[in-house]
Parts: sequence; C-alpha cells; structure tokens
Amino acid sequence: MTAKLIDGKNFAAQMKKEISTEITTRREEGHPDPGLAVILVGEDPASHIYVRNKRQACNDVGIQSFYYPLPNETEEKQIVDLIHELNQDPKVNGILLQLPLPSHIDSDGLLELINPDKDVDGFHPYNLGRLAQRRPLLRPCTPYGIMMLLDSIQQHYKNQHAVIVGASNIVGRPMALELLLAGCTVSVCHRFTGDLKHFVSDADILVSATGIPTLIKGDWIKPGATVIDVGIHRLADGSLIGDIEFAVAKEKAAWITPVPGGVGPMTTATLLKNTLIAAKNQMK
Ligand code: GUN
Repeated sequence: MTAKLIDGKNFAAQMKKEISTEITTRREEGHPDPGLAVILVGEDPASHIYVRNKRQACNDVGIQSFYYPLPNETEEKQIVDLIHELNQDPKVNGILLQLPLPSHIDSDGLLELINPDKDVDGFHPYNLGRLAQRRPLLRPCTPYGIMMLLDSIQQHYKNQHAVIVGASNIVGRPMALELLLAGCTVSVCHRFTGDLKHFVSDADILVSATGIPTLIKGDWIKPGATVIDVGIHRLADGSLIGDIEFAVAKEKAAWITPVPGGVGPMTTATLLKNTLIAAKNQMK
C-alpha cells in the first residue's frame, strides 16, 4: 500500500481564504478587523521564523498584528506589565507569547496572566481545563489543526487506538485531550516509555511530536494507519525531515502528512481562526 498524502498546505490555504472572506464581510458590516499581539523574547532563530510567518499570515487575511520583539535580557516584570496592558486593549483580541522563552523567565506563570478570552494559543489552564472537561473554547493550535486534517479524510475515531509520541504542553498533551474527546482510545508515549515500537506498531492513528529526527522507524507503522508527523528538522543539506522515516512509513500507512506541507501550515491557519473566534466572542 502507498499512503495518500494529507495536504495541510492546501487545506490551510483554503482556511485562510475563508477567514479572509469572513473578515472582509465583517469589515463591510462595520466591525473592526481582529487584532493579534505577538510577543517574542530573545533571539531563537526558529522562533523568529515562526513569528514572521504568523505575522505575514495575519496580514494576508486582514488581521492586524501588533508586534513586541523584546531582547533576551528582558525582565519578567516588563512582560507581566505588557500582558496586563494588552489584556485591557480593545484593539487586541488575541495575545500570543511565543515559546520557548529565555530560561530566567517563568513561562507558565506568564501564560496564566493572559486573559483566557484572548488566549488564542489555548495554553491557559482555563482553556486546557475546558478541553479536558469536553467543553472546548479556544483550542491549542497544532492539535486543533490536526483534528481538522483528520476530519477532512473522514477519519474514524471510535474504537481506534490513537498513539501520541511526545507529551509536551504545546502538542502532545492537548492532542491527547482532542483525540479522547473525539472518541479514540489514547496512549501517550514519552521519554520514559520503554518499548516505543510496541505502541507505535499498534497505532491506528499515530501523532509524533518528539523533536527527534526519524525517531519513528517506517517499518513500525501498522498497515493502514493514519500517520501525522509534527516534527520538522533541517538537515545539513538544507532539506527538511520529520520525526518519522517517511519513505518507508508511506508504504505501510493509508494516510500520511508530508514534511514540510503537512501539519506546519495548519498551526498558523488555526491561530488565525482562533483570533477571529476570539474577536467575535469579545463582541458578545
Ligand atoms: N512555540 C512552538 N510552537 C508554538 C505555538 O504554537 N505557540 C507558541 N506561543 N509558541 C510556540
């Protein structure tokens, strides 16, 4: 079997068109364009690229982006004050604090200061708690985008074993909550999991977000599985690869996301969607 590709790039482009159309219609009805504030602390090169892409995407669909690049040495208090200010600003409907932050800053403490109504990353304990209690509001972008991709291929969830590799707050944990909500039986593997192959080879749905290139061997994949690769790693020759050995895995899976062009574009598209949802909810 050769897997069909799950085209996240195309799906995200379609979503962006729909979001843009809705924002244009709302503008014609007299509503202000949604606003997203992006805080970036330090010089992490990958974060700079992600933030540039997110701001460009805002521009593409008519979301105003307000950018706060801060030096590595910024004191936590300064970011606290900025978040409080943005929480009060009616032009700002969403606040994104790009992670990771420099090690002298308490990321979790700062994320908790963001008004949950403006928490377009869905990382605030309130929003994660709502998802855990099956009443999601603003949902973490990458897992939400993956659920849209799975829905687009008419993925079954009930009586399906979903295996997530990686237990981060950004992807693995909220992904587990999403797949549980959808009706899957969920396993979460992490650095202390002994026999990773055992879990991966039983996965009807596999989501990998480990940050380790080709950790998941292609011949571990269960025949007919749906395979989602969140990993993105640049090789010395400039090419990009994921967590999963793609060439082998695609001969076993039924569906697979490419890297690049799979999950990555969906994270940005869902951020735009969440910003529009937040703006609409704040009108109520
Ligand atoms: N760093 C890596 N991914 C993300 C994300 O989705 N949101 C934020 N805020 N930081 C990130």
